[in-house]
Amino acid sequence: MSEHLLEVRGIDAYYGPIQALREVSLHVDKGEIVTLIGANGAGKTTLLNTLFGNPRALVGHILFRGEEITRLPTYQIAKRGLALVPEGRHIFPGMTVEENLVMGTIPVGMEHADEDRQAMFELFPRLEERRDQRAGTLSGGEQQMLAIARALMARPEMILLDEPSLGLAPLVVKRIFEVLREIAGLGKTIFLVEQNANHALKLADRGYVLVNGVIELQGSGKELLGNPQVRQAYLGGH
Ligand SMILES: Nc1ncnc2c1ncn2[C@@H]1O[C@H](COP(=O)(O)OP(=O)(O)OP(=O)(O)O)[C@@H](O)[C@H]1O
Ligand SMILES: [Mg+2]
Repeated sequence: MSEHLLEVRGIDAYYGPIQALREVSLHVDKGEIVTLIGANGAGKTTLLNTLFGNPRALVGHILFRGEEITRLPTYQIAKRGLALVPEGRHIFPGMTVEENLVMGTIPVGMEHADEDRQAMFELFPRLEERRDQRAGTLSGGEQQMLAIARALMARPEMILLDEPSLGLAPLVVKRIFEVLREIAGLGKTIFLVEQNANHALKLADRGYVLVNGVIELQGSGKELLGNPQVRQAYLGGH
């Protein structure tokens, strides 16, 4: 049994002969905001994808709510209450905002769709204004909001986000991080992968630093923000 909401124990993952994750262990407790920071190619996206079974962890264990999910099919992992906002958003560009939200209900069914869509429109008023607009014509920031809202439509207990601030203007980035705090306030647990270490560590209760597939450092957001190694490598040395 694990007391953590999510617990990753010593996982290795490979792409063919290339090892992308080495003995990665971490945990996220209920209600926490935890961030994983690391440079390009460190293995951040691989870790999130491994949680969903692609690639599979060849060694080690992944537990969610105390139950092993390491070898479950992806759709069953989603049904258990984990949702991923993938890198690059992957919204359906030809569908409207509203249709994209409906797609988010797939793991749980349509029972609460109307109520939950309304809740998303309250959280993201911009999406309500654009409910009939094709998602591919939204701005980058709006698309990111839609990707987050779509993930929330599955009523996850925990939401995993892969670089939600990537490529967005500073004001939009600020808004994204505010939204994450609001989502945490709704009782969701958050695991956030970011290259924007400054924003992420300020938001997070705790953080991990991934270097070449290995967790090199961990600590509270505050500790990591003040760590000279982190400052040098991820905060431009300031
Ligand atoms: N499908 C794949 N096939 C082969 N190698 C891959 C594949 N996906 C990722 N890799 C390799 O695995 C390593 C980790 O990549 P990953 O995408 O997890 O890094 P990342 O930390 O998310 O980087 P970024 O910040 O650029 O998104 C890299 O060396 C990458 O080239
Ligand atoms: Mg990535």
